[in-house]
Amino acid sequence: MFKRFKMKRKILITGGAGFIGSHVVRLFVNKYPDYLIVNLDKLTYAGNLENLKDVEDKPNYVFIKGDIKDEQLVRNIFEKYDIDGVIHLAAESHVDRSIQNPMEFIYTNVIGTVTLLNAARDYWKDNYQGKVFYQISTDEVYGSLENDDEFFTEQTPYDPRSPYSASKASADHFVRAYHNTYKLPVLISNCSNNYGPNQFPEKLIPLSINNILNFKPIPIYGTGENVRDWLYVEDHAKAIDLIFHKGKIGETYNIGGNNPWRNIDLIKTLCRIMDEELGREPGTSEKLITFVKDREGHDKRYAIDASKIKRELGWEPETDFQTGLRKTVRWYLNNQDWLKNIISGDYLNYYERQYKNRF
Ligand code: NAD
Ligand code: TYD
Repeated sequence: MFKRFKMKRKILITGGAGFIGSHVVRLFVNKYPDYLIVNLDKLTYAGNLENLKDVEDKPNYVFIKGDIKDEQLVRNIFEKYDIDGVIHLAAESHVDRSIQNPMEFIYTNVIGTVTLLNAARDYWKDNYQGKVFYQISTDEVYGSLENDDEFFTEQTPYDPRSPYSASKASADHFVRAYHNTYKLPVLISNCSNNYGPNQFPEKLIPLSINNILNFKPIPIYGTGENVRDWLYVEDHAKAIDLIFHKGKIGETYNIGGNNPWRNIDLIKTLCRIMDEELGREPGTSEKLITFVKDREGHDKRYAIDASKIKRELGWEPETDFQTGLRKTVRWYLNNQDWLKNIISGDYLNYYERQYKNRF
């Protein structure tokens, strides 16, 4: 075994170049200089190393381009860095893509997760003390709510209804099965919809910001009455930090913004903020709203009851929605090169430009 890293913790974060992962990596690298943070990411279309420019040279940070399904690579990483904690975010994450191509979701979200579980079980098997495998999951595994007074709790039975949520539910089941069967020390959290800087512009909020900026139609699926519970991404990263350090092994924690919005109301609010920030005539952006064919099997309502994490760990969202949405809009307006690089595909070359001469 190769144990040259005398750091307090050696944490493998998967999917750290993606939207939420990049916020988690940044938080851990900056907050814990005595931890080694190893970021394993395949750099699919959703992975963007530009998200991590500000931490890439930190001494406690290592980036590895690779696939979580690559069993040998994953085992080598555990050995080489003597990994004692995993925060697993790598996934295919977009529902619409899962409807088009479910297999990729099964490969990465299910088989990838089990590959990581096996590596953790085998590397830690002699000593589970102080180890943790933390699975980052979604509220979508709970299915769809019908009424405004209903919320998902940790006891809500799983009822996934899209290929994406079915793949995440399956992964969560394997994580729990490894805890029950092999006593692997695991944690799971199920979070509601995130928004904030660095989200890929295929998801509702950044897609709409990009379209408004370019006077393109804002596509609203169906009647726009579907409800999502929105949480600012940095609040999610803080919850992950807290659960990783203080969560009770074997437990599940729901994380949510206590902030359910109908899509149409959210987009109208976003339109008003965009008009203000861009100095456009009030009502300009709303004219871009276009109702389009509904998503197949579109879940009606997601809403999280986050009282357990508040009660047991003292976590609450810090960013109110109006503030968070305006911060997000400003970030996209101030980082239009980031958006342009995504639209042009140039962000996919960042790894070659920044990393090719390092090894
Ligand atoms: P994302 O699509 O922005 O990023 C996913 C990252 O995983 C990318 O960097 C990608 O390159 C990487 N990846 C994909 N397949 C991989 C593979 N086979 N091997 C290694 N890396 C791979 O996703 P996100 O929105 O940041 O979501 C992160 C996690 O949080 C996911 O597990 C998702 O299910 C969960 N989650 C997301 C939300 C949300 O609103 N975005 C809400 C709750 C939970
Ligand atoms: P999305 O950001 O894809 O997240 P999820 O489906 O995982 O919740 O979509 C959020 C909501 O916005 C969802 O109800 C689908 C809807 N939506 C649109 O109306 N138009 C769009 O172009 C997109 C991408 C989503």
